[in-house]
Amino acid sequence: MSDAIVVTDDGSVRTIRMNRPEKKNALTLAMYGDMTRALGEADASDAIRCVVFAGAPGVFCAGNDITDFLKAAQGGGLDANALDFLKMLTRNRKPLVAAVDGPAIGIGTTMLLHCDHVVAGAGACLSTPFLKLALIPEAASTLLAPMRMGHARAFSLLVMGHPLTAAEAKDAGIVNTVVEDSKVDEAAMKAAREIAALPPGAVAVTRHLMRGHVEEVTKQIDLESSHFKDLLRSVEARAAFQAFLARKK
Ligand code: COA
Repeated sequence: MSDAIVVTDDGSVRTIRMNRPEKKNALTLAMYGDMTRALGEADASDAIRCVVFAGAPGVFCAGNDITDFLKAAQGGGLDANALDFLKMLTRNRKPLVAAVDGPAIGIGTTMLLHCDHVVAGAGACLSTPFLKLALIPEAASTLLAPMRMGHARAFSLLVMGHPLTAAEAKDAGIVNTVVEDSKVDEAAMKAAREIAALPPGAVAVTRHLMRGHVEEVTKQIDLESSHFKDLLRSVEARAAFQAFLARKK
């Protein structure tokens, strides 16, 4: 387990914290691997009844590490770690809570569509600038976002890359509660404890019935992934990654 993912268990609540603030919690292959393992353990554990995804103060997640995208584009292609994480997110049976303080970009936003309860700080901002990088959205967001907020709003978010404020994300049905930025972790933990205190068998069955489309979601992840891998190698995508990484030099 790298220091960039910190896993803590508090009673029956597991927190998986992204902790790479110097890179705005951009997710590396190792971080995906650690999150997949932490989630898999939680899924298999009778002791854990709820999982919280959290970030660092002022930043939830800046998406996939663009250096890794560039390496994949120039080399042997995309490593399976991100895909494994998305599939674990889909098949995991434990309720998922997210504590979003600050920006949630790319997978930082699309992972929220798999969460059951999202707490956001008033200053949080959700965005999916995949197309600006000449890529397409992932995590089955092309299926889940239109279902959640309707085609028009999903198109604005996913295709046009227009960000959502915390209030707009609440209105769109992605976020449950908006609180002061400094209260995000506390409010998420409170919700997680409330969920964890419920009878676990009844929670598991209800959640399963509510999310009865796991195979469809997994299929969409694979479909998106096959297009994503092709687009990643395009001239436009490589130029966009290089432009981001060189922007301060
Ligand atoms: N991949 C790799 N590095 C990233 C990153 C990412 N997704 N997001 C941020 N970083 C790095 C920056 O390169 C910078 O590194 P440096 O200090 O070595 O130069 C550091 O994190 C801090 O980022 P910076 O851009 O200086 O902070 P900011 O407060 O001005 O902006 C963001 C923060 C998150 C808005 C901005 O970094 C950003 O837009 N990141 C890219 C988001 C993105 O497009 N993700 C992919 C989605 S598919």
